[in-house]
Amino acid sequence: MRRHNVGVTALAATIVWMTMWQITVADWWQLGFPTTMPTTLNLTPTAHKEQCMKMEFFVDKQKELCAKYDRILPIIANGAKLAIEECQNQFSYSRWNCTTFPEKNNTFGNVATIKSREAAYLNAISAASVAYSVARACTKGELSEWCSCDNKIRQRKTTKWKWGGCSDDIRYGEKFSREFLDVREDQNTALGLMNLHNNEAGRRAVRSRMQRTCKCHGVSGSCSTQICWRRLPTLRKVSEGLHKRYEGASHVKYVERRRKKLKVISPDFKKPNRTDLVYLEDSPDYCEKNDTLNILGTRGRLCNVTSQGIDGCPLLCCGRGYQTRVKDVEEKCNCHFVWCCNVVCNTCRSRREEHVCN
Ligand SMILES: *[C@@H]1O[C@H](CO)[C@@H](O)[C@H](O)[C@H]1NC(C)=O
Ligand SMILES: *[C@@H]1O[C@H](CO)[C@@H](O)[C@H](O)[C@H]1NC(C)=O
Ligand SMILES: *[C@@H]1O[C@H](CO)[C@@H](O)[C@H](O)[C@H]1NC(C)=O
Ligand SMILES: *[C@@H]1O[C@H](CO)[C@@H](O)[C@H](O)[C@H]1NC(C)=O
Repeated sequence: MRRHNVGVTALAATIVWMTMWQITVADWWQLGFPTTMPTTLNLTPTAHKEQCMKMEFFVDKQKELCAKYDRILPIIANGAKLAIEECQNQFSYSRWNCTTFPEKNNTFGNVATIKSREAAYLNAISAASVAYSVARACTKGELSEWCSCDNKIRQRKTTKWKWGGCSDDIRYGEKFSREFLDVREDQNTALGLMNLHNNEAGRRAVRSRMQRTCKCHGVSGSCSTQICWRRLPTLRKVSEGLHKRYEGASHVKYVERRRKKLKVISPDFKKPNRTDLVYLEDSPDYCEKNDTLNILGTRGRLCNVTSQGIDGCPLLCCGRGYQTRVKDVEEKCNCHFVWCCNVVCNTCRSRREEHVCN
């Protein structure tokens, strides 16, 4: 009897340990921290391959892919870094502000293991950032063995302009993002389906914002012909668009009919399309500190006293109220140009109010 209990406890402990280990291992976002991975890195192909194989937070397929494309590692790392930056920018005035924990080897903390709309956003912006980062590297010639400018854009006969110049190859970026990120997901699980859907929504958020840029040619200023190419949008535009999708994200559930799929939780809600974000679980309470989930809570956060929105004191402080601090600030002001070549400024002092959540 006693032996049996010990066995069961050991088994349970192993399962818990394995689950935690898997979460840590798959946390490729760590590449976005400069301590893990400098983004400018000149490795020989062999050294690059070795680095890829050592990345313990890659699954095996990711290691293989990383090794196959020599020079891709700093580009993936750049994708991770951009994803973190964009997330923090979009959520800087929300209860959850996309806090990272570099020292814990757990990029977004355990909160990312809840299948919430925040996790949906993280996947989407990451898939978008990897596609973006790879497409830009293609244009810059950093992956010249694999991709370059997009020359496959088809010409419409009737237009007054011609494709030419160097178009950013978003299709290649998407292809890599799909290969590299989707390979981690199991389409026979609810979480796998959720992540796959959100990854694709992220990539579409880039593709749908590709813009045409043109340059005039012809006798001085006549602009009789125009040469155009397709350019990536700024990632800021993409992350803003995804933030709108986050706000309107669809709560879905897993159904196993003939085919496993996600279905909107109630027929009263709109069916999500492929650009929408989907989530399976409600968000945790971000108001109070929760060490298990690595939630910091909103005490001490700065809030906007005039806003009725999520950044406003009532909502951000979760009804606990706020304190007003008066801060003396010194700023450069009345700057003017002095011939030649200085800018001279005064120092202005002013008082500014700051509102801090209780
Ligand atoms: C994080 O990972 C690094 C490198 O793998 C290791 O040296 C460090 O001890 C880890 N830290 C924690 C808290 O696990
Ligand atoms: C998908 O749904 C969103 C609203 O959630 C809508 O704005 C968008 O136009 C739809 N896209 C397509 C391709 O139908
Ligand atoms: C932290 O969150 C988990 C999951 O929502 C909950 O079960 C737990 O009680 C919370 N802990 C604290 C200290 O609030
Ligand atoms: C997020 O909020 C915490 C306090 O809850 C603060 O310490 C941290 O600096 C904020 N992070 C960002 C990226 O704004």
